[in-house]
Amino acid sequence: MSNSDLTPRDRFTSRFGIIAAAAGSAVGLGNIWKFPYVAGQGGGGAFLVVYVLFIAAIGLPVMLSEFSIGRRAQRNAIGSFKNLAPRTPWFLVGVMGVAAAFLILSFYSAVAGWTLEYIIKSFSDAFAGRDEEELNLMFSTFVSGTWRPLFWQLIFMVLTAWIVVAGIKQGIEKYTKVLMPLLIVMILVLCVRSITLPGGGAGLAFLFNPDFSKLTAGTLLGALGQAFFSLSLGMGTLITYGSYIQKNNNLSETVIQVSVTDTLIAILAGIAIFPAVFAFNIDPAEGPGLVFITLPNIFQQMPGGYFFSIIFFTLLLIAALTSSISILEVVVAYIVEELHLTRKRATILASVMISVLGIFCSLSLGILSDFRIFGLVIFDLMDFTASNLLLPLGGLFIVLFVGWYLGAGPARNEISNEGALRLGYFPLFMFLVRFIAPFAITLVFIYGLGLIRI
Ligand code: PHE
Repeated sequence: MSNSDLTPRDRFTSRFGIIAAAAGSAVGLGNIWKFPYVAGQGGGGAFLVVYVLFIAAIGLPVMLSEFSIGRRAQRNAIGSFKNLAPRTPWFLVGVMGVAAAFLILSFYSAVAGWTLEYIIKSFSDAFAGRDEEELNLMFSTFVSGTWRPLFWQLIFMVLTAWIVVAGIKQGIEKYTKVLMPLLIVMILVLCVRSITLPGGGAGLAFLFNPDFSKLTAGTLLGALGQAFFSLSLGMGTLITYGSYIQKNNNLSETVIQVSVTDTLIAILAGIAIFPAVFAFNIDPAEGPGLVFITLPNIFQQMPGGYFFSIIFFTLLLIAALTSSISILEVVVAYIVEELHLTRKRATILASVMISVLGIFCSLSLGILSDFRIFGLVIFDLMDFTASNLLLPLGGLFIVLFVGWYLGAGPARNEISNEGALRLGYFPLFMFLVRFIAPFAITLVFIYGLGLIRI
């Protein structure tokens, strides 16, 4: 008998708590650091249209599937499959999820650590008077260093573990309920600053006037991959969170609220960044350096930039933190429920192991940069394996599980709260999880593997 059979399961206590935690997981570096630059490279408006379409047709059904699996099984990512499909290999989907959590958090915590360094730099006005080249050098010298990035990464992991160790109600829910509204206020402040810059209108036009001639097959698949990563899908994060959701919660409503929040924040990040990028004549397709090199350059030229820089990097830190706790929770819930360690020990064990892996990720951008596997440094290898292989594969199996293994009966029971809710859209949901989502995800997967080149 496991701990969870003896003690009542820790769970979210309010509807707002569920949304704050799940939206906190979804809204992260993926929205604020990655979305603006992939949208920029994908042509702006046209990318946005496709992205929103993918969220609606694929993201929503995958998310509803994950919540349903977790809430029905009342277990972690691996245990849920063991519970719903005993003595079958389906639990391997959860194993993949836990593995993905390890890999993602090891590089995610590195990038999150950089935000701490950049908060300090903002406070000390370190960007003042420097041009783009100097800021570029500042960034590359910092990330290729040994001790500073490791120090911040460790601090970030301690913060993450600090929240996770306190549990669902007293940790994750308590903190995300405060941090998420704060994040929304901060991003709105940045949006207002950005669109009131002279010349910022061109940035808004870039984001909202779709030029469909820019759409290539590669952009389509990039948009789907981004939707996956951004909504935290495919690795059991939302199976784990689903297991903490009360039985009377309307799961479909929660799915809509979380997805809308995630998408709006990505768009708001675009609104905060593109007008400023255009106002200062910077290339919107600049790439991953957009946040750490381009934005400091913009801040140091704009009125009030000192404060907006502090606000921006704090926002990035909060977004990263509410996502990283959801990634760590996948591993911790597994260790607590399947290996029967206390929550404290499980959190320490998982954080230490992830931090060790994280050291290699961070150093691979500096002294270990010559060590490559398949031509990739460790940092990129972790990202590639998790984002391009494990997440799409996990997502594919999750929809197949609900569509074909669990089947319409149990799925309808779970989503309708055992018949209490009317579900007019249920046949559409089943059609999406059985056919559309598996087909689309398969396409991303083989593209991620490089089996097809577009
Ligand atoms: N959704 C998070 C982001 O956008 C990242 C994440 C991926 C979190 C997978 C959990 C699981 O940054």
